[in-house]
Amino acid sequence: MLVILKRDAGEISRQAAQLVASAVRKNPSLTLGLATGSTMIAVYQELVRLNKAGSLDFSQVVTFNLDEYLGLAPTHPQSFHHFMQQHLFAHVNISSRNIHTPDGTIRGDYDKYCAAYEDAIHQAGGIDLQLLGIGRNGHIGFNEPTSSIGSRTRLKVLEKETIDDNAKSFAPGEESPRCAITMGIGTILEARKILLIATGGSKAAAVTKAIEGPVTSAVPASALQLHPDVTFIIDDPAAAQLTQRDYYTRVLEMTALLTPDRLS
Ligand code: GLP
Repeated sequence: MLVILKRDAGEISRQAAQLVASAVRKNPSLTLGLATGSTMIAVYQELVRLNKAGSLDFSQVVTFNLDEYLGLAPTHPQSFHHFMQQHLFAHVNISSRNIHTPDGTIRGDYDKYCAAYEDAIHQAGGIDLQLLGIGRNGHIGFNEPTSSIGSRTRLKVLEKETIDDNAKSFAPGEESPRCAITMGIGTILEARKILLIATGGSKAAAVTKAIEGPVTSAVPASALQLHPDVTFIIDDPAAAQLTQRDYYTRVLEMTALLTPDRLS
């Protein structure tokens, strides 16, 4: 595990976008796992900037989004599909046939649909690089606390805290969805490389439990400790409760010296 500490959200988005861009440059047909949430907006802005500057080509990149609200059509302004269009897909040269987001409008055989989503990931050769944010309760994707560490893509009931957090982006009086389709923790752990980004003091407790706490389904992001190639990029407020900050900084310095490829 690598922990990269940055001063603020601006530095984080530049570093995260640079890691994504460099992965795409090394493998132009990279399969990229994507996340939504306000933390990701600046990262996508930076990727759009690099694409427009001609230094990042999305033409062969394949994407799979982590999750989608159940009941929202792709055109709904609060759907994650719409979020991705608004912040990334509409502004870069990605091919629409290479974009995959779970369908929030499905009804009935959820298991069959979710198994097909997993199949599509396998058909694409698996996820090379998975971007993640983190919820205040430690969720990744929409894997709420107590999600099984081996879970796969499935229908998930959201926690009240998550519903309340997400209600802010819905119009007053509009009900925020209570369920979602999400990749499972087991699905996420199969990605070859994982990059989790966290900013702001409201994430400090979750970040500390994820990095320094025990691996437990009570903190879904702690399952990332089981992954061989995970990088956390965290700003000062989100890192405030970490107890091993000096050690993470020394590890990073040595990594830059001995295995610089991990950082580019
Ligand atoms: C939602 C998404 C997560 C995201 C989280 C945090 O719950 N399903 O993938 O990590 O929001 O969002 P924000 O970055 O807005 O705090």
